[in-house]
Amino acid sequence: MMGRERSDLQGRHVVLGLTGGIACYKSAELVRLLTKAGATVQVVMTEAAEAFITPVTMQALSGRSVVTSQWDAREPNNMAHINLSRGADAVLVAPASADFIAKLAQGRADELLSLLCLARPRETCPLLVAPAMNREMWSHPATQRNVATLEQDGTRILGPGCGDQACGEVGDGRMLEPAELLEELVAFFQPKVLAGRRLLITAGPTFEPIDPVRGITNHSSGKMVHLATPRGVKRQNVMTAAQMYEAVVPSAADHDVFIATAAVADWRPANLSEHKIKKEGKKVAPTFELTENPDILAAVAALPKPPYCVGFAAESENLLAHARSKLLRKRIPLIIGNLGPATFGRDDNALLVVDAQSEHALPADGRPTDKLTLARALMQELAHRLQAVQA
Ligand code: C5P
Repeated sequence: MMGRERSDLQGRHVVLGLTGGIACYKSAELVRLLTKAGATVQVVMTEAAEAFITPVTMQALSGRSVVTSQWDAREPNNMAHINLSRGADAVLVAPASADFIAKLAQGRADELLSLLCLARPRETCPLLVAPAMNREMWSHPATQRNVATLEQDGTRILGPGCGDQACGEVGDGRMLEPAELLEELVAFFQPKVLAGRRLLITAGPTFEPIDPVRGITNHSSGKMVHLATPRGVKRQNVMTAAQMYEAVVPSAADHDVFIATAAVADWRPANLSEHKIKKEGKKVAPTFELTENPDILAAVAALPKPPYCVGFAAESENLLAHARSKLLRKRIPLIIGNLGPATFGRDDNALLVVDAQSEHALPADGRPTDKLTLARALMQELAHRLQAVQA
């Protein structure tokens, strides 16, 4: 999803606060990403932040004058700390230093940024904080206490990340990367239709080895092959269908929903050659005996207490008939059909949502639309059905 040209933040107004930390250089890129995603960004900087990056840079990138002082006389009523948050959809402090987090925890307000954080209307203008500091500062009990206080007060803590630090040490405390912060903010504004549900998802094609260098695999209509792990997702890598079966089936009953997006190979070579099969000196091409792979989705659906199962059907023709017969054969409540060749490797798709009673196109007009929009619409479909099952 990263790097996409989307307007996920269209119409959103974000106050971006910078406090003292070397991660300020990343905030320049963050402003670019936020504005590219459609947001308007008002930058507010503390005096310490100005030691790391200039307001000139931030003004040029945001297209708005940067505000640095509560005594800024440009505000007609001289109340920057009130005015700035009134039209804002969120205040994001990135980077947030240990000192600034301590101030927020105590409700202190001796400069503009902490003052406006305290004075913001909490119902309409949430506060998100992206910590950035040395690992010892982050793990210090005082900082951990302060962060816990902020969370209790309803503040959303983004990160921090782990890795190399500017001081040369390695550990927790890095500010999240700008693209990660953008993703967090976009997700923050999305409706949380599946909050509290545990989901298990298979993804990607499987690969069934023939010998150490060759194998059988298949297309998948998602773009799931080399994706980074989305934040908050626990990922387990597997290669073959048999490995996927072992990873999924024993733990499936611990989940509320199972979504089988993986393009699982239907067959695998019956025998794995220990060494590379050589072609030299052979007049005829080798032949392979194939054996059927286990059906992971059908196995999960057949559990005594299965999670709500969602299957996918990538077809080349007769979409409805094939999808419906798959729904019955695998004994699942919901299947999503799509025409594989029309969407393999592409950014858009058109779906057919099929359950026991009915079917409908998604989007309703049947015209291909981008996969992220479709994924969000599918989550809405799923949430409605889960509510109906529970009712
Ligand atoms: O049987 P078919 O491959 O057409 O069904 C597709 C659906 O079943 C997908 O949701 C896919 O992830 C799932 N499946 C599975 N295990 C298999 C084959 C397919 O979970 N061995």
